[in-house]
Amino acid sequence: MHRILALLCTVLFAQPASAAVTLTLSCGSVGIEAQLCREGAEAWARETGNHVAMVSTPSGSTERLALYQQLLAARSGDIDVLQIDVIWPGILAAHLLDLTDRLDATSRAAQFPANIENNTVDGRLVAMPWFTNAGLLYYRRDLLEAHGLPVPETWEALSATAKRIMNAERAAGQDRMWGFVFQGRAYEGLTVNALEWVASHGGGTIVAPDGQITIDNPRAATALTQAAGWIGGIVPQGVLNYAEEEARAVFQSGNAVFMRNWPYAWPLMNAADSAVHGRVGVALLPRGTGEDARHVGTLGGEQLAVSRYSRHPAEAVELVLYLTSRAEQKRRAILGALNPTIRDLYDDPQVLAANPFFRTLRETFENAVARPSSVTRGRYNQVSAQFWNAVHAVLSERGTAAEVLDRLDRSLIRLRRGDTW
Ligand code: GLC
Repeated sequence: MHRILALLCTVLFAQPASAAVTLTLSCGSVGIEAQLCREGAEAWARETGNHVAMVSTPSGSTERLALYQQLLAARSGDIDVLQIDVIWPGILAAHLLDLTDRLDATSRAAQFPANIENNTVDGRLVAMPWFTNAGLLYYRRDLLEAHGLPVPETWEALSATAKRIMNAERAAGQDRMWGFVFQGRAYEGLTVNALEWVASHGGGTIVAPDGQITIDNPRAATALTQAAGWIGGIVPQGVLNYAEEEARAVFQSGNAVFMRNWPYAWPLMNAADSAVHGRVGVALLPRGTGEDARHVGTLGGEQLAVSRYSRHPAEAVELVLYLTSRAEQKRRAILGALNPTIRDLYDDPQVLAANPFFRTLRETFENAVARPSSVTRGRYNQVSAQFWNAVHAVLSERGTAAEVLDRLDRSLIRLRRGDTW
């Protein structure tokens, strides 16, 4: 009798403490991101006896934000752990748990301070840095060599080189060859690309860190006019509908000389099934011309956050800590070229062997230009949507850069409503 009672008690009382939970996790799905995320989550599940269900969300950043906003506004517990873009902490902070206490002094010191600062909203660390991103120029090393041309330093040089090689290759029978591909669809990725063009011409960052709206300026107009001139020439018309993966598909099948993309594309370019395997180089994005022109890559990156509406917050936080750990960041860097947020991994021989440009382009990762999301806070997505729509209008010849930027400036002033964001 006693034994039965004791057994019953063990079952009844031990059960809740050790019961396995099922968490839902949403990660990105660009390149092999989803696979790497699933592998990490499965390893955690095996170690802890819990389960993780992967929720598939749209691969485009803009669409994923819309879905998260819907779920979170409804206080839905459907997603416990969310991958969030570097520009979203200010937009989603109210729905995310504070992780400050889960980052001890040593782990904090190991991170890039800018990421911690970016993810801290009103004193709350609302997301753990997971990987960082910066825009890069991918080029066909074999074609530049064959045509005896250097890697372009300026956008003007890129235009000329792209044109020359594209024309020569077409004349030699490669009739699907293009000069340059990038992300030109009307979404967050276009904001990223256009910020690179504008800032590399010394035209600022749309809204300055002090909140001033600066986008209506001649350098920004020059940058956008130049980009509009590429469409239908060195750049396919279809780029107006490209996100990251569409650009990668064209370049990876051997049909473009240059591509702007994130580091994730590197291992895929060199995979066995890639048509350009071993023939690709990576460089800084070109700079504009004139004073204040410089090489600029936009800062991107992803974080992991726990929803306030999670029914298993303790386990969800553990999963976040596991996935953002040094070991997991190292694995993801080696297999997926997903740039760690832990600084000393940039000196790790295995990480560098897999991604030599982590060393040569370290400066790009450390000096990447941030989008104005911290200053515009909850309104960043509206600012960005106005900017990408304006840029899309210039690229598709629905207005000159000067006209469109003048309208954008007035519209952003209305959005700001007063002196502060
Ligand atoms: C990548 C970046 C992110 C950016 C997005 C744009 O996912 O990490 O910061 O907003 O691309 O497409």
